[in-house]
Amino acid sequence: MSDTRDTLMAAARAAAATAYAPYSRFHVGAALLMADGSVVTGANVENASYGLSLCAETVAVAKILSGDRLAVEAVAVTGGAPGEPGQGARVTPCGRCRQVLNEIAQVGGTDPVIWCDGAEGVLELRLSKLLPHAFGPANLL
Ligand code: THU
Repeated sequence: MSDTRDTLMAAARAAAATAYAPYSRFHVGAALLMADGSVVTGANVENASYGLSLCAETVAVAKILSGDRLAVEAVAVTGGAPGEPGQGARVTPCGRCRQVLNEIAQVGGTDPVIWCDGAEGVLELRLSKLLPHAFGPANLL
């Protein structure tokens, strides 16, 4: 595993430890590596009105936008029971998160690599592979 991937996944795992997930008890962490070298993390934030829960990737993207850093190069995602992110089934970004990530990717002009943690290793995929023929800001021009 490359140093960059290790470092970003470690940041995602640390973020997962900050999740607020009392309902699913599934703690997800996401870490985004930006073109300027900065790392932006997020964790899922659930809600008693379940459908209002926020995914880790969405929380991280919201933090990017508030910080004005648009080009995302890589994303690491991990999840699991408290203290065990990456120890269970592989976590890939949900469909909504793929669309949310696509927004920032298209605006920043990147096709970020997505590293998905799991007990059997890290799966590496480009966002364009996870969300082919994506609808995005370019469609509205
Ligand atoms: N979750 C994420 O944070 N990201 C994903 O891509 C998949 C699912 C969260 C939502 C919910 O809080 C918990 O994981 C269980 O679905």
